[in-house]
Amino acid sequence: MSIVTPAYIQVEDDIRAILRKPGYDNGNIGPVLVRLAWHSAGTFSGLDGSGGSNGATMRFAPESTDPANAGLDIARAFLEPIKQKHPWISYADLWTLAGVVSLRHWADLAGQVESGCPVRSRVPPNGRLPDAALDATHLRAIFGRMGFTDRDIVALSGAHALGMCHTDRSGYDGVWTHYPNQFSNLLYKNLLEMTWVKRDWDDWDGPEQYMNVGDEQLMMLPTDMALIWDPEFKKYVEEYAANQDVFFKDFSCAFGRLLELGVTRDENIEGHEEGPRGAPQNEHQDAIQTVSIWENAKIFFRRIASIVFFC
Ligand code: HEM
Repeated sequence: MSIVTPAYIQVEDDIRAILRKPGYDNGNIGPVLVRLAWHSAGTFSGLDGSGGSNGATMRFAPESTDPANAGLDIARAFLEPIKQKHPWISYADLWTLAGVVSLRHWADLAGQVESGCPVRSRVPPNGRLPDAALDATHLRAIFGRMGFTDRDIVALSGAHALGMCHTDRSGYDGVWTHYPNQFSNLLYKNLLEMTWVKRDWDDWDGPEQYMNVGDEQLMMLPTDMALIWDPEFKKYVEEYAANQDVFFKDFSCAFGRLLELGVTRDENIEGHEEGPRGAPQNEHQDAIQTVSIWENAKIFFRRIASIVFFC
């Protein structure tokens, strides 16, 4: 079911209008918005159904203060004026939508999750997001909890073609590709085609990370390196490096599923001009509903052909 209401299009337009930001990182806030959408959804646990983007629980401790979310207060602050301008949209949907709009200036995605203030017990504990210092076993444990396979893990990790690491957020430093404002399969190509050595400069006392031999302008996290150190993961790195279309297709499926984790949906739209409004789910959440973000995301990503998202 695809619903794009005028009110929704206005929110998309407003997100698109703030993407370019001269002076911030590489001049675009898109990457940090993608990271916000992923971290918001990535707390989901298939074991008990807790976590996920519903209720935008990253606004509350301990999720707001989880070191894994360092810097995402900046992303949330970028979006706050849009939330104030469009109070009908939930934070959860605004963050999700911002991630998708950031991946492309035009998005055929409409959705809405309107929720009441979540009870504190619904805020997921820390420790559900991946630790960049760890290895393939850790990645399988974290993403397996969300229902993702090895292939999904490698596809999702390709998002590191975008954006950069900040010493004052994660402690890591640098960009993964020379084109951090473009979505591409370059992460995989760089992993395979470049030689990576531990950063061991006299001026570096940060966490273990890897630099490319040569211009030493690029970096990899230990978890990125795990994608080529683990033979099962490496198969997919090779496949995506050789075929960007396959990467885009797999990324779209996996990212769409990620955004939907734990989202409760009610597609009843009768009588609401902005978009769908659903029936109360329980006494704590006065209304939770969304159009099928996943269905729309699939359509949206299928339209991706050659990608230069942030130009
Ligand atoms: C595989 C496990 C992952 C680990 C360990 C990891 C870790 C990190 C770290 C440490 C940073 C740097 C944060 C900073 O210093 O600002 C980062 C940035 C980023 N991550 Fe991940 N990440 C993972 C998976 C993902 C996934 C699944 C996505 C999206 C689908 C994603 C999207 C991004 C983006 C776009 C940035 C750049 C943010 C910016 O430029 O501000 N990451 N990630």
